[in-house]
Amino acid sequence: MKQKKVKIELKNLTKKFGNKVVLDNINLKIYEGELFAILGPSGTGKSTLLRVLVGIEDADSGSVIVDGKDVTDLPPNKRNIAMVFQSYALYPNMDVFGNIAFPLKIARMDKQEIEKKVNTAAKLLGISEILKSSINKISGGQKQRVALARALVRKPALFLLDEPFSNLDARVRFTAREELKKLRDNLGSTFIYVTHDQRETSNITTRVGVLNKGKFEQIDSFENLYNTPSTTWVADFIGNFPMSFISKSKDELIGFRPEWAVAGKGSMTAKLVTNELSGNINYWMCETKDGHMITLVGNMPLKVGTEIHFKLKKYNIYKNDTFVKQVNVK
Ligand SMILES: Nc1ncnc2c1ncn2[C@@H]1O[C@H](COP(=O)(O)OP(=O)(O)OP(=O)(O)O)[C@@H](O)[C@H]1O
Ligand SMILES: [Mg+2]
Repeated sequence: MKQKKVKIELKNLTKKFGNKVVLDNINLKIYEGELFAILGPSGTGKSTLLRVLVGIEDADSGSVIVDGKDVTDLPPNKRNIAMVFQSYALYPNMDVFGNIAFPLKIARMDKQEIEKKVNTAAKLLGISEILKSSINKISGGQKQRVALARALVRKPALFLLDEPFSNLDARVRFTAREELKKLRDNLGSTFIYVTHDQRETSNITTRVGVLNKGKFEQIDSFENLYNTPSTTWVADFIGNFPMSFISKSKDELIGFRPEWAVAGKGSMTAKLVTNELSGNINYWMCETKDGHMITLVGNMPLKVGTEIHFKLKKYNIYKNDTFVKQVNVK
């Protein structure tokens, strides 16, 4: 089998601000053609990680390797990495064409060549019609594409995108995600993007790295993050509802997703605390005798305090907050 080529490798990367460790000895390999998402709560170091990769922030120790070459001591313009900032950082006094052409002008490329490259990038991103428009007169989604096109014309080895969808409204977000995936498929380039919204990672990524306090808790497909989270922290963080836990023995917990439980029958019981409607599915949030909050799928809203019986079809076992195994009940 053909070995996948490593596009970027981080070795023992540590970054501190003052005494605060923001990136804690990170080791990571990202392969060519991946669409890799970095997911995590606010303040966990997601943006800092991208800034260290692109070279606008120096690491305290460790190295960044792109295409097998150590770029740790190289300035941003020598790393062949393009970063699209959350704010897009477009120049308001230039039109769309001027913005996309800017890095090529800086590189003193000749005019015809610039025109060709800008037109190709604009066509790929579907913004050919607005090349003459002023930046102030285009929508959020169009600005995002302009910023992407500007990164694209440099033909970087790697694209870094910091929260690329956060300025878009919910309807456009979905299309933008699909477009990012298409762009990746067309270019075959490697993309790393940051988000703190897990819905943005569930169907377009190759892998998702869950960052918590400067460390990756788990790097996996979204499906595995949901089904077999490696720690109770990931189990709590991933999913529309946190994973439900009940005590097993002294240092063991049983964890389950709402759809892994059958409510209405079974030997376990819990008291209804609140009904929660998500889409058109009703969930029963319940409290067990020993004080655990759990979420069950319920067929209708019930009175608070109702005792609900349930049993499990499937569950995970966690020991000292670490995944041990998954059990399917016959
Ligand atoms: N230049 C700086 N000087 C000092 N502290 C900083 C600096 N930049 C970031 N930090 C701190 O480092 C930590 C990580 O910040 P970072 O911006 O990487 O988080 P993030 O995961 O991107 O968060 P968000 O989801 O809110 O964007 C935070 O505690 C932040 O306050
Ligand atoms: Mg950030």
